[in-house]
Amino acid sequence: MDKSTLPDPKFIISGAMHGSLRHDSAHKHVTGTADYIDDLPEPADLLHGALGLSDRAHAEIISMDLSEVKATPGVIWVFTGKDVPGVNDVSSNGSHDEPLLAEHKVEFHNQPIFAVIAETREIARRAARKAKIEYRDLPHWSDIDGALENGSPLVITPMTLQRGDAKGEMENAPRRLKGLMRIGGQEHFYLESHIAVAIPGEDDEVAIWSSTQHPSEIQHIVGHVLDIASNAVTVNVRRMGGGFGGKETQGNQFAALAAIAAKTLKRAIKFRPDRDEDMAATGKRHDFLVDYEIGFDDEGRIHAVDATYAARCGFSSDLSGPVTDRALFHADSSYFYPHVHLTSKPLKTHTVSNTAFRGFGGPQGMLGAERFIEEIAYALGKDPLDVRKLNFYGQPGSGRTLTPYHQEVEDSILERIVSELEESAEYQARRNAIIAFNRDSRYIRKGIALTPVKFGISFTMTAFNQAGALVHVYQDGSIHLNHGGTEMGQGLYTKVAQVLADSFQVDIEHVKITATTTGKVPNTSATAASSGSDLNGMAAYDAARQIKERLVAFAAEKWGVPPTDVVFLPNRVRVGDKEFPFPDFIKQAYLARVQLSAAGFYKTPKIHWDRAAGRGTPFYYYSYGAACSEVSIDTLTGEYLVERTDILHDVGRSLNPAIDIGQVEGAFIQGMGWLTTEELWWDDKGRLRTHAPSTYKIPLASDRPKIFNVRLAEWSENTEHTIGRSKAVGEPPLMLAISVLEALSMAVASVANYKVCPQLDSPATPERVLMAVERMKKA
Ligand code: MTE
Ligand code: MOS
Repeated sequence: MDKSTLPDPKFIISGAMHGSLRHDSAHKHVTGTADYIDDLPEPADLLHGALGLSDRAHAEIISMDLSEVKATPGVIWVFTGKDVPGVNDVSSNGSHDEPLLAEHKVEFHNQPIFAVIAETREIARRAARKAKIEYRDLPHWSDIDGALENGSPLVITPMTLQRGDAKGEMENAPRRLKGLMRIGGQEHFYLESHIAVAIPGEDDEVAIWSSTQHPSEIQHIVGHVLDIASNAVTVNVRRMGGGFGGKETQGNQFAALAAIAAKTLKRAIKFRPDRDEDMAATGKRHDFLVDYEIGFDDEGRIHAVDATYAARCGFSSDLSGPVTDRALFHADSSYFYPHVHLTSKPLKTHTVSNTAFRGFGGPQGMLGAERFIEEIAYALGKDPLDVRKLNFYGQPGSGRTLTPYHQEVEDSILERIVSELEESAEYQARRNAIIAFNRDSRYIRKGIALTPVKFGISFTMTAFNQAGALVHVYQDGSIHLNHGGTEMGQGLYTKVAQVLADSFQVDIEHVKITATTTGKVPNTSATAASSGSDLNGMAAYDAARQIKERLVAFAAEKWGVPPTDVVFLPNRVRVGDKEFPFPDFIKQAYLARVQLSAAGFYKTPKIHWDRAAGRGTPFYYYSYGAACSEVSIDTLTGEYLVERTDILHDVGRSLNPAIDIGQVEGAFIQGMGWLTTEELWWDDKGRLRTHAPSTYKIPLASDRPKIFNVRLAEWSENTEHTIGRSKAVGEPPLMLAISVLEALSMAVASVANYKVCPQLDSPATPERVLMAVERMKKA
């Protein structure tokens, strides 16, 4: 590559943690040279798979005639659930509620019933449509209202969090109000859709390439459907073209189908669903209905909160337990609830099973809390920001630090973040100017809102908070890095490579980042819950520490110096008064038979969680942030623009400020899409009608705030011993986008002179904004 086109050298040749190195694949992403699975050279004799999907939302299968599918020229094999050699189940949580291929009944429109293997993808896809299936329809419901009306079962035991006496204090509170908030779901819309390639090996062996956030789970599921041990299955992933939670469990079906066909036909198989199929047959963000009652006083202080969080889970449990739990864990947002009672209602619906999506239910929980604040503010005629501040968790010792799950908020830096942002964004002056503008403006109205983020970091499933890494130093001094985390664009590989480069004090280019594979690091957790760099960074650090300890002991003995006189300097090692270039030093160690390879391991300390009791310390620490957004709406059409957004976000001591700012910007825009234009819509037959970019609107570059000021809280440092004192960044900034919804709400409220809370639900599409404006006119 032409060196002159590369950015400032300090972005490339710096071994240190905390440097703004570019993403290791950035140049490959933008020049189309990063290999995704569909770009890899195809094995000879590769065959292609396609799904046969149901066209009923809930029905018994009476008969199935696949003869025309099988007779299609180029079709090699058609298989159903009966042909699964092991267990016909791809549920991620051992609940056995998710058949790989539906056998006796279908529970959502576009549920996979059979699979076609053919010479080409096109043949497979066309043949799959020739099935003749007879159904007996059963009652179905697609949404939360339908589920509630029909007394739908729950997909998993609900959770309750409580402290104090919410019901009693509700009676005693000077004021109380009730309301409902509807929160829409969201499609992940990763640019690379799901894909899996399976290559059969000797005996029971099979190798899989999968676009997955969770290679160990794919390994486990493939073993399960083939009835073989995990040691026969190797799963590889170099990178995903985006995952966003949508590839935590949803890749299971494609990998499992490819593996079954590969072992049966003894040929390599590729499954790559079309975008429509991917959208129809894989889970999304959960919709929620928050049913709340709040008790408060004339100042705006919350006394009691009692709320239920009903969620559209789809037909199976999948990750709905952790998602609805995390909604409750974030139902406090940044606020202290003196008396609180929160319950989840994970409802079964006849739709695709909903799954993880950036924030894991946290965004929905927090959005509810911000609605509570708005309700109080409008009831009292106050600025919502003042009500927010009044209810923030207090400093240690204030008696206002206990969460509804009985964990103390110890490191409250939120007030500082909010006040710094309030000042730099000139919130107060701009809010006054906007109120004046709205007074005189007939059709265009503006709104501004400043909202906080507090997000708990750790998997609530304690066992997931562990990670491994494998590090080799070769004789030439080059370093080979492997760890259990996966790269989906978030920059994890770069950050972990920085950790190693820093440990050995070598330039980053000497660290080779290699594809994640279950054969090198076993029993890995999903790269999820934003914990990738916390966990894998620490595991890599541990591996480097072991190798360095051996190197120090070797050098101290060989050159007769105390161990403290062996010092790793940039690209060289000083031993007493001698200095060796790093490769020469390593060569000496090799010749002396020093082991230059190590497996590192890390598990998060301190955390524990008792779900049944609703008590514990589920989070190692919190990440914070705040955003201030200004919007303008056209009250005649409901259309809007985001005029300006200012963000101040806390990532502790950033491992890589350039990557972290990218994460903050991306998450904010993705959150904005969720709360504004992205709308999922199922018709009365239970068909998802928003199944392609033609009908589903993700944000465009032109939708970004016209002025977009993003800063990291540079003074912040994790008070816990995380890698480099950094904090997780992947999910928390998504919730900064709540400022946009609240700003839209203020613009709408101006129509009724801020006397009524607009109760703007999400997504606040232009239609919904227009309807809210019309409601305000009648108010
Ligand atoms: N950034 C990019 N570019 N692509 C993604 O798919 N996923 C998000 C976030 N940032 C994602 C992303 C989600 S849902 C999570 S949990 C984290 O990255 C996972 O990576 P980390 O733990 O290494 O931050
Ligand atoms: Mo992220 S939703 O935890 O993959």
